[in-house]
Amino acid sequence: MDVKKVILTDDEMPRQWYNILADIKMNPPLGPDGKPISPEALAPVFPMNLIEQEVSTERWIDIPEPVLDVLRLWRPAPLIRATGLEKALDTPARIYYKYEGASPPGSHKPNTAVPQAYYNKEFGIKKMTTETGAGQWGSALSFACAQFGIECKVFMVRVSFDQKPYRKAMMQAWGGNCIASPSMETRAGRAALEKDPNTPGSLGIAISEAVEAAVTDETGQTRYGLGSVLNHVMLHQTIIGLEAKKQLEKIGEYPDIIIGCAGGGSNFAGIAFPYVLDKINGKQVEIYPVEPAACPTLTKAPFVYDHGDTAKYTPLLPMHSLGHAFVPPPFHAGGLRYHGMAPTVSQLADEGLITPKSVTQLDAYNAGILTTRTEGIIPAPETNHALAQVVAEAKQAKEEGKEKVILFNWSGHGLLDLGAYEKHLAGELKNYELSDEDMIESEKVFADFPKPQSLKSR
Ligand SMILES: Cc1ncc(COP(=O)(O)O)c(C=O)c1O
Repeated sequence: MDVKKVILTDDEMPRQWYNILADIKMNPPLGPDGKPISPEALAPVFPMNLIEQEVSTERWIDIPEPVLDVLRLWRPAPLIRATGLEKALDTPARIYYKYEGASPPGSHKPNTAVPQAYYNKEFGIKKMTTETGAGQWGSALSFACAQFGIECKVFMVRVSFDQKPYRKAMMQAWGGNCIASPSMETRAGRAALEKDPNTPGSLGIAISEAVEAAVTDETGQTRYGLGSVLNHVMLHQTIIGLEAKKQLEKIGEYPDIIIGCAGGGSNFAGIAFPYVLDKINGKQVEIYPVEPAACPTLTKAPFVYDHGDTAKYTPLLPMHSLGHAFVPPPFHAGGLRYHGMAPTVSQLADEGLITPKSVTQLDAYNAGILTTRTEGIIPAPETNHALAQVVAEAKQAKEEGKEKVILFNWSGHGLLDLGAYEKHLAGELKNYELSDEDMIESEKVFADFPKPQSLKSR
């Protein structure tokens, strides 16, 4: 009988994260004066123990025991072979996925929310602020803060706040406080509402609000947490790929193709980075981050220095960016609506170590429905984007008659995204593509910023 799933025991769970900064060259983040920013300058925003992790170039970093204790609730996560999908596609490819939907909030996000809450608690912080797009990250941080007895405040992008009311209830159940962004509570929120009272909001605006709320808090015991993009977030997610590697090794498999959807880049980084290390060391493997055609950061936008948020509170980060003021169309995958991309993922794309792809909303939801019917689990809309690429690769393997091994990250379940599925099944979803004129306009904001150098890690 073919293997259906590979389970690791608690003892086999990785005890260290893989830090890709040990193996690639990066342009530094820049401060307002255009000079590399010092770690101290970030101290009002993040606790120093996380800042140290952000800049560390040590290849392996120990996972603290109290973090492992919470992760053990649902980790090690299973590696499952998508035999139903393979059969439906009549493909010679063997398709495996890491299932991250079994965490309490239903996605990969707690892999970093738990260590972030832990390090904040260790540093004496009492409250964390954050933004959320799809609601997955806000739920994850609310859950994690509850585990370590910290308060949590979440600014949720308006369009998702309206589309997904139960995400707010979920955050509240863990003791989190969730409000729609833009809000009247911050200067950044008020400015966005003044510009457009009906704005659907954006992750860029919500990040500005959450950063502002943290740094203006008078107690001095509030810090901000980010669910993607930053180096330490990518680091924490590598537990996904490290587990997957062990699991595939157990059954004598090595992937030809690795696929993850990419919003800010964290679940993709999680599954891919341990394999990027292999690739740097000479292994043959294709690695595809997949993004929506309606927010084509890696596939169309240039590699530049830009702010991570709309109000320009964050340092300038070297990344692929559609411009910090970009408000994406209201397509249904809230977690993939970010204007930028993790600097590490951007750097790898720039070097050709990974190959970005984009898919349309309808292709994504069609792949999600096919997978739901054949695999039984309803994927998060973000995961559907990875699935559209998986389906395309499996079909190509059939055309070529090749037994390819495809590994992808199933970043979350879609049980709180059924409103979008309902619309799709009623034929009400449509595709959005950005015109060249829209992109030229949105990219004007970084025209005067310094340009990152083209670096080669190999
Ligand atoms: C289920 C799921 N997958 C993917 C993402 C995209 O984020 P990232 O690219 O950081 O993994 C999100 C973000 O909210 C998400 O909720």
